[in-house]
Amino acid sequence: PSSAMGVGDAVREELGSLHGIPLYKSFVEGWPQVEAFQARPDDLLVATYPKSGTTWLSEILDMIYHDGDVEKCRRDAIFNRVPFLEMKAPGFPSGVELLEKTPSPRLVKTHLPIQLLPTSFQDKDCKVIYMARNPKDVVISYYYFYQMAKMHPDPGTLAEFLEAFMAGKVAYGSWYEHVRGWWEKKQEKQLLYLFYEDMKKDPRREVQKILRFLGKEAPEGMVERILHHTSFQEMKKNPAANYETMPTALMDHSLSPFLRKGISGDWKNHFTVAQNERFDQHYREHMAGSDLSFQMEV
Ligand code: A3P
Repeated sequence: PSSAMGVGDAVREELGSLHGIPLYKSFVEGWPQVEAFQARPDDLLVATYPKSGTTWLSEILDMIYHDGDVEKCRRDAIFNRVPFLEMKAPGFPSGVELLEKTPSPRLVKTHLPIQLLPTSFQDKDCKVIYMARNPKDVVISYYYFYQMAKMHPDPGTLAEFLEAFMAGKVAYGSWYEHVRGWWEKKQEKQLLYLFYEDMKKDPRREVQKILRFLGKEAPEGMVERILHHTSFQEMKKNPAANYETMPTALMDHSLSPFLRKGISGDWKNHFTVAQNERFDQHYREHMAGSDLSFQMEV
């Protein structure tokens, strides 16, 4: 890299803050470019809170965009096929730089809460697919991700991490505000709001929903290929989907693989009874008054 900074500089650093949202310091530094990002009308935005099935949804969309051609979807790693808008790390092209080089129609990944989304997406009336996952599975998945992805500070014990998550003191802030903020936008027909748990239960139905939302037709054989190629087992062994091509200095799959378990309800193997009661209470308080609800298992 041309700068003196290397990947090592971003390792296990404390989080910075972006308009009150805890975020990696390098992302905060890159924010002016993200805020000024020029969306194109045919951009499709894939928005999620971290660990909610972003990569899964991204692979499904890339398959749809390439008519179910598996070989085309192996052309590059998922983080290059679906650039990460606000990504900025020493020694890597930023998300914005990658996107500027990406031909239309582009798939754009973001974890930004709705209030921080660059205004250009609204101005250009871009379609958005939001995917949400129940917070108990998100916090467990995030705990393992903090361990393997070294741009995070040390997560501490699970008990400590649970407290940090409930307090919104993890990267991207409060899960509650994130899922609720995007939910309130769903009245607009340009936004499709999906759930990880529905995708687990009936992926065929969810893929059909996505196709309808995009106004695309797909023959049955193509849907079949998409479902097979984007199954957990297939993605786990696919180097273009499993993040194993990331430098080990940034992601250490020996600590925990990126495609870890891919199930709903793994929190039951981790939460104590007391933690679960406390989490339920906190969940009730923070979801009060919303018609948004989650399945904690399938
Ligand atoms: P677990 O840690 O619970 O296994 P994101 O892509 O938003 O970072 O989300 C990662 C989570 O989605 C991980 O959850 C990962 O295993 C899961 N995942 C990725 N691909 C999947 C697939 N094809 N089917 C089910 N889950 C998948």
